Amino acid sequence: MTKNIIPHDHTVKQADRIKRLGYRPILIWFVGLSGSGKSTLASGLETRLFNEGINTYILDGDNIRSGLNRDLDFSDDSRKENLRRITEVSNLFVDAGTVVLTAFITPFKEERDKVRKMMGDNYVEVFVNCPLEECEKRDVKGLYQKAREGKIKNFTGIDSPFEEPTSADIEVRSHQISIEEGVQRIYDIVIGKIRKV
Ligand code: PPS
Repeated sequence: MTKNIIPHDHTVKQADRIKRLGYRPILIWFVGLSGSGKSTLASGLETRLFNEGINTYILDGDNIRSGLNRDLDFSDDSRKENLRRITEVSNLFVDAGTVVLTAFITPFKEERDKVRKMMGDNYVEVFVNCPLEECEKRDVKGLYQKAREGKIKNFTGIDSPFEEPTSADIEVRSHQISIEEGVQRIYDIVIGKIRKV
């Protein structure tokens, strides 16, 4: 696939960007079932960071699956390709100097391990841990009901697997604490990494 592709060694390096920015861009990857609160927490955290003058950007299902990844469905292979592309895009954003927050279910350990490997120290995995029963009770988008009725196939937690993270950097039990508390907990951990230049 990468045969005869020889990357150009550009003059401006990430270290130069970090020096100018005065902070370290990292990738904050939210993992969790549909309806667990990934986007809500990512949004709350983004606001905090952005208001402190940090360049941020959220990648989530809405802006990715309706554009870049509109050709993908929810089969295992499509989910893997979805996450592969998001990992690559996130890496580019981080390289360019942006703190990236992603909100994708990311149901497979293998894909999560790949992101961590690619990003190294510039990575924080946040497991938004909310029991399936609670997500289903919330059913904000009405998708769980449709999945139970068989109107949606391969729905995560119903007829498609979710491999629970066991090595996340942060776990937020979103059914037990408030959004503000959750945001604060994540902020307290990521800000140290971002400020460490
Ligand atoms: S994945 O597994 O990481 O590739 O999924 P992701 O890109 O995050 O997309 C999840 C959002 O798509 C909606 N949706 C589904 N989710 C799971 N399974 C099926 N079959 C499905 N069909 C549509 C759902 O609203 C998810 O949004 P969130 O924000 O997670 O609730």
